[in-house]
Order: sequence, then structure tokens, then C-alpha cells
Amino acid sequence: MRIYHDMTEWSRLRQTLPSDLSLGFVPTMGNLHRGHASLFQRSIKDNDATVVSLFINPTQFNRADDFTHYPRTLEDDLELLTQAGVDYCLLPTEQVMYTDGYHYQIQENHQSQCLEGTARPGHFTGVLTVVMKLLQLAKPHRAYFGEKDYQQFQLIRDMVNAFFMNIDIEVCPTIRETSGLAYSSRNNRLTPEQRQIADQFATIFHKDQSCEHTIAELEALGVTVNYVEDHRDRRFAAVTIGDIRLIDNYALNVRDVA
Ligand code: PAF
Repeated sequence: MRIYHDMTEWSRLRQTLPSDLSLGFVPTMGNLHRGHASLFQRSIKDNDATVVSLFINPTQFNRADDFTHYPRTLEDDLELLTQAGVDYCLLPTEQVMYTDGYHYQIQENHQSQCLEGTARPGHFTGVLTVVMKLLQLAKPHRAYFGEKDYQQFQLIRDMVNAFFMNIDIEVCPTIRETSGLAYSSRNNRLTPEQRQIADQFATIFHKDQSCEHTIAELEALGVTVNYVEDHRDRRFAAVTIGDIRLIDNYALNVRDVA
């Protein structure tokens, strides 16, 4: 795997790649787990080459302590990427990503006004802005996102269409532990007791019952419920266990966990 710290050097290489070579891209914030690995595998299967970025994007954290506590596991991440068979890894610095001082932003004013957008002011502006920048750098044919962050996937897909960017945005299924808990970088921060509660959150959230019943069961468990809501054909949830915020969602007609 070739690692690029210098984006000018990467852009030079990118220009030399044959135009008929299909390039898949998976943007990440590192602290990689099986959920990410499934995105790399899918990109490797679909494309001639795969590029992954590791960049902990400060502008999408609405709480400074969340950014500070985000796990930084670069060595393990590079090992996982190499084992997975990823071809290129981009490691841009904050200085390079935000040479403009974050004066230019991508702001969505419709679909981002609910769920995570309401709960985390500024979050999606940070996500869309950094993804736009990363797509401009990587110049992929396809980019891969997890279903776990479904609202993020929808916003990125629609941004790419709105700005006539010729990139296929693909969504890959949520990867779950045996308990049904979705893999997330935040799971590593749960204490063993919180972990058990998180497993129960997954079970309760997937029960075939109303949002109100789910909220009541979760609250009885001692979980702080941010929201459990149905939007179109999907159910979404965000909860806080201790100080760890977890999100999940699933299609209402296709249950992936009993
Ligand atoms: O899903 C994530 O890890 C991030 O939101 C992303 C898409 C890499 C942008 O920083």
C-alpha cells in the first residue's frame, strides 16, 4: 500500500492513473473496525484500485471533547488497510484540508434539518464540506459509505447529484456484532457494564413495536434517548450511554436482526 501524507504528491500520482482504471474510495476517520473493512472489501471487489483516507475531521464534531476523545489508532489502521489489500492511503493534515480556514462550507438546508442534524448542530455541514474536499482530492469513480450513518449517506449522495459530480455513491449494509450492536468506533469506549446496556439497546431497538414502546423500554434500562423516530420506511435511533452516543437505523420492511 502506498501512503500519501502530501496531497500534491497524491494528485500527481492520481493524474498518471489510466482513465479506464476504476478507482474506489472509502473516506474514514480511522479507528477502523469490521464495518469499515466491509467497505474496503466491497470497493476492492468493484474497482481496479482502492484509495482510503484517514482524516479525523474537526469540523464535524459539535462537541470539543468528542473530538479530543476520538481514538487515534494510526498504526493499527495502516496494518488493517494493508491486510485488506487497499492500494493507496491518504493522510492529509488539518492545515491542508482547511487552507481556507473553513470559510467555504457546504450547507444543506432540508434533509439535514432532522435526526442527527437537529441533535448535532453543524455536524452535517462539517461532514459535507470535508467529503466534498476529499472527493475532489481522490477523484474516484465510486465512493462507499455505511448504512449505519444512513442520513449521512443520503446527504452525500444528494450533494454529489446536486453538484453534477460524476461519482457513484454506494451504501453498504451495517455490520453487527452477535448481539446486534452495530460496529462503531465509539463501542471501544464503553465500559463492560455500558457494553451490556448497549447490547440491550440493539435488541430493544429492533423489536417490532412502536417508537413510544421502544423509548419507554430504553429509558427503563437507564439509557438516555435522544430520539427513536420513523422517517419514510426507516427507523432511526440515537441514545447516550454514560457519555457515549450511539446511533442506529434499519429499513422497516427488511429487518437485519431479530
Ligand atoms: O463516516 C465518517 O467516518 C465520516 O463522517 C466521514 C464520511 C469520513 C467524513 O469525515
